[in-house]
Amino acid sequence: MIELTDIAYVRSGVADLAAATRFATGIVGLELAAQTEPGVSHLRADDRHHCLALVEGPSGVLASGFRVADDDALAAAEKHLERAGFRVRRGDKAEARSRRVGAYIAFDDPFGNRLELVSQQETITRPVAFSRPAGITEFGHLCLDAPDVHEAYRFWNSHFNAKVSDWIGDKACLIRIDPVHHKLAVFKGERPGLCHMNFQVATIDDVMRSWHFLTEHGVEIEQGPGRHPQSTAVFLYFLGPEGFTYEYSWGVRRIEDDSWRPRTFDPDEPGSIDMWLGPTRRVSTQPQVLTDPIEHREVAN
Ligand SMILES: [Fe+2]
Repeated sequence: MIELTDIAYVRSGVADLAAATRFATGIVGLELAAQTEPGVSHLRADDRHHCLALVEGPSGVLASGFRVADDDALAAAEKHLERAGFRVRRGDKAEARSRRVGAYIAFDDPFGNRLELVSQQETITRPVAFSRPAGITEFGHLCLDAPDVHEAYRFWNSHFNAKVSDWIGDKACLIRIDPVHHKLAVFKGERPGLCHMNFQVATIDDVMRSWHFLTEHGVEIEQGPGRHPQSTAVFLYFLGPEGFTYEYSWGVRRIEDDSWRPRTFDPDEPGSIDMWLGPTRRVSTQPQVLTDPIEHREVAN
């Protein structure tokens, strides 16, 4: 069993780095870290050095990162995955530096989503210098696509400390790795990709203020404002450049005790996606791009 201690980052490829960076700062509100690497914008939302890296190149999500406790846990995870038949690649020094982690491994989930497990993700104590006052408090969760969400949960639950919090029929599986209702979600989608990246905000007022701000700035609102009955979070999904969906939300449920039993919601039942009964639609997914095929290595026992 691999214990994920937190989500770490999203890396996304962008054909127009300047435009994507402008949106991430001026519209989403993230802090742009001092540039240390040509072609990469590191964006900060909380005490992580960054949680979003925009990488100049083919458009599409490159990887989703998760933390493990330390280097020993990473080595154990590498062994576990190789024994389970996954092709795993250990990042080199420069790649780890770009991610601001001590070390990491990369592999693909059974549906083609590139995942990275990292140790020693860099923490920064200086308060975040947000580019606009969106009220962001932290990188909240990420959502991946898979053709079968029950199969996807089998993958997450059999290899990781991942527990389903709620099901939305066969459309979505909301997964926790700590008390937060979900730090990971899997949505039904034919091709691998990142459905959205979520940022928590401090108050419901932040969600509503951003709704007006985004509308005034001509940003496409994909869904919301509304309230998810599963997590109780007030949500707002909006579309960034190159098909990247961002979400702000406030008020996510915490599950502090193990007596919680996952519930199943019918996605076609009114109120199952938005308990305020607003218009709902499937937000768009940024497809996965593979730029460095995972090479098979022999297991060293
Ligand atoms: Fe979400």
